[in-house]
Amino acid sequence: MSDLTILGIESSCDDTGAAIVRGTAGNARVLSNVVMGQAELHAAFGGVVPEIAARAHAEKVDLAVKQALSEAMVSLSEVDAIAVTAGPGLIGGVLSGVMCAKGIAAALGKPLVGVNHLAGHALTPRLTDGLTYPYLMLLVSGGHCQFLIVRGPDEFTRVGGTIDDAPGEAFDKVARLLALPQPGGPSVEARARDGDPKRFRFPRPLLDREGCDMSYSGLKTAVLRARDEVMTDNTLTAQDQADLCAGFQEAVTAVLAEKTRRALRIYMELNPSQPMIAVAGGVAANQAIRAALTTVAEEAGAGFTAPPLKLCTDNGAMIAYAGLERFALGETDDMTLQARPRWPL
Ligand code: KG4
Ligand code: ZN
Repeated sequence: MSDLTILGIESSCDDTGAAIVRGTAGNARVLSNVVMGQAELHAAFGGVVPEIAARAHAEKVDLAVKQALSEAMVSLSEVDAIAVTAGPGLIGGVLSGVMCAKGIAAALGKPLVGVNHLAGHALTPRLTDGLTYPYLMLLVSGGHCQFLIVRGPDEFTRVGGTIDDAPGEAFDKVARLLALPQPGGPSVEARARDGDPKRFRFPRPLLDREGCDMSYSGLKTAVLRARDEVMTDNTLTAQDQADLCAGFQEAVTAVLAEKTRRALRIYMELNPSQPMIAVAGGVAANQAIRAALTTVAEEAGAGFTAPPLKLCTDNGAMIAYAGLERFALGETDDMTLQARPRWPL
């Protein structure tokens, strides 16, 4: 099969992404991957503000596409299809991307491919490592936390996930409670390095319940309570702050590790010949979590891979690649493609 050149557009949360990916299913490379973040726009609000995100995507998406084409030294006429995140995500942002993609597709008479954002994350190890189907994927970010058995570009089986907050969201909320900068993941991880993880014993939610479901909203409440107990005159010492971070991170890590052990067991019973787990999403950047998951995989006799950070977090290349796989199977969308705020895999 000859190489396909795909433009991918991502705008479902707070990163405007555009990228060019070229190749075939299971053997493709990233020619460019432009990500325009919005962290500074949302920083003052302590979280992503949908209206601000939507406006920033609308302002930047054309620019991101132009830059992606120019960095890849590819002209629009050389592009075989336009892939775009059609959901799930913040509707205003998704609409900006879908409208931009439809405009380009209509103007140039190119095929349009709507991509599920979660499928983009889940297929990334095929782009970065050429992983063959099937494999187990742990998708763990600010908005998502689930185990998926990935069998094909449209074939996913969910074996468990969070029933409330995603772990990244919990990191962000804990950072807010402890007056640490956003995004919370990296700042909590950095503070945790100086902390004693044993000083506060936070709960391990749902560990006593069978299966792979998780819960993280109670943890942040536990951190709030512990903080209020040690705070004097509305101030925390640096050591209190570090110990709270370390205890919290250890609890998240323990839950993720145990649930991954169980998900891997379920996966390997079904697919004994291909023992493989991949992890993606912003939280996969956490060194403690990564190390714990690597150990779980080793103990189970499974391979472990995590895409490089730039492709772990939201980006256009994963959307271009997931679009490439769909397009290679002859799957395209027409101008009725809708932006879907909710779109389970
Ligand atoms: O995948 P991502 O860029 O966006 C989506 O949520 O889709 O993930 C961002 C999330 C944020 O909640 C951020 O705090 C978390 O990933 N994160 C981390 C780390 N780096 C980013 N969480 C824990 N440790 C980190 N080092
Ligand atoms: Zn994402």
